[in-house]
Amino acid sequence: MAERFRVVGGSALRGEVQVWGAKNSALKLMAAALLAVGRTRLTNVPAILDVTIMAELLRRLGCTVDYDAAAGVVEIDVPEQIGHRADYDLVRALRASTAVLGPLVARTGSADVAIPGGDAIGSRGLDLHAAGLEALGAQVHVTHGFLVAEAPSGLDGADIRLEFPSVGATENVLTAAVLARGTTRLENAAREPEIVDIAAMLSSMGARITGAGTSVIEIEGVEALAPTEHAVVADRIAAGTWAFAAVATRGDVEVVGGVPEHLAAALELVRASGAEVVTTARGFRVDSGGRRPLAFDVATLPYPGFPTDLQPFALAANAVADGSAMITENLFEARFRTVQELNRLGAETRIDGHHVMVHGVERLSGAPVEASDIRAGAALVIAGLVADGVTTVSGAQHIDRGYAGFAEAMQGLGADVTREPDDVPFV
Ligand code: EPZ
Repeated sequence: MAERFRVVGGSALRGEVQVWGAKNSALKLMAAALLAVGRTRLTNVPAILDVTIMAELLRRLGCTVDYDAAAGVVEIDVPEQIGHRADYDLVRALRASTAVLGPLVARTGSADVAIPGGDAIGSRGLDLHAAGLEALGAQVHVTHGFLVAEAPSGLDGADIRLEFPSVGATENVLTAAVLARGTTRLENAAREPEIVDIAAMLSSMGARITGAGTSVIEIEGVEALAPTEHAVVADRIAAGTWAFAAVATRGDVEVVGGVPEHLAAALELVRASGAEVVTTARGFRVDSGGRRPLAFDVATLPYPGFPTDLQPFALAANAVADGSAMITENLFEARFRTVQELNRLGAETRIDGHHVMVHGVERLSGAPVEASDIRAGAALVIAGLVADGVTTVSGAQHIDRGYAGFAEAMQGLGADVTREPDDVPFV
């Protein structure tokens, strides 16, 4: 049954909130487990829908997967013989399924991965993934909606320069090159903390990797890898979500488990909005001092720039800020779906290509709105907290994909946010 979030406006978020492991790392680490026969154990795994879908994909490839969401543990038992196909129904549900491409080519010599269509935020091709695997010697072609990569006699290390520091392409080249013959030098690689996390897990499996976190990564291929145990890095996007939620609601929130170093660009803008940011023993704290945020300009960039996944939250905070701000989206061409929904709540915005001008208003007014993806949905719930009356955010499943117990976490911070069936008339 479809559900929505019901948000009663008016509360400033106060207290502490816990962040767990990163969705955008856990999913790739689960795929990377395919590289070694045996039992790999991941801890600090978030209790989110996407992990359940990835677990299903691995089961279809022949693995046994035990996912204890409450304990935050996933155990993956990888057999000698695994499949090499990622079906469309799963890839459509979870774009990150494409992360099995590299491990499957490296382990089995072939991979058939359904091509995920575009999604709510953009076209999202796989051309950089394909180019990287071809450089390692795989034959890559598209047939019947599948991207097929074949390397029956294995892969060979190569010098590769990515046209764009794509996170997904960097991960697929990394997980393929660890079992290739010889050395791979990957230039213009993505530098996100999730890349450092997967490189750390692969190294604990016996891989030889240097330079993860910089734009040049070197991988010396090895014969085989061994299963391992690894704790997922903290979710910097979830942590950033709570930081901007404190700013927008004029609140005071401690983000327990958040790593401020992974959020430098975002926290700099949190400070520019007038809020105080202090590192604490357990994470960091954002205190707005009860003040209305000051408007702040934003331009999204690959790490260490301002993350595109936090753009909808910067938008929501600027919608009620004092002043006007320009928000520029440089990564995904269709990531302004939040704007139309914010306008329904009374925001004053004007889109111009990949820029949006936001003129802050004192308060928004509650209305029914629709979540189009994970981040847009969570940002609309936060906007509802600074709107008069009730806001309902349909498409709760989008938010569940990336945030564990979002309503409960909001309630823990003093907000009146609940879930209800999406067929109740809006009153
Ligand atoms: C990852 O997506 C994240 N998803 C995204 O988070 C995040 O927005 C993105 O990185 C950027 O930080 C996961 O990790 C599951 P990219 P990914 O390859 O790997 C273009 C969220 O909300 N491109 O770095 O798909 C692409 O179209 C999600 O949690 C190509 O053109 O991102 C985009 O414009 C949303 N060809 C840009 O590069 C390719 O072959 C960045 O994409 C690959 C990418």
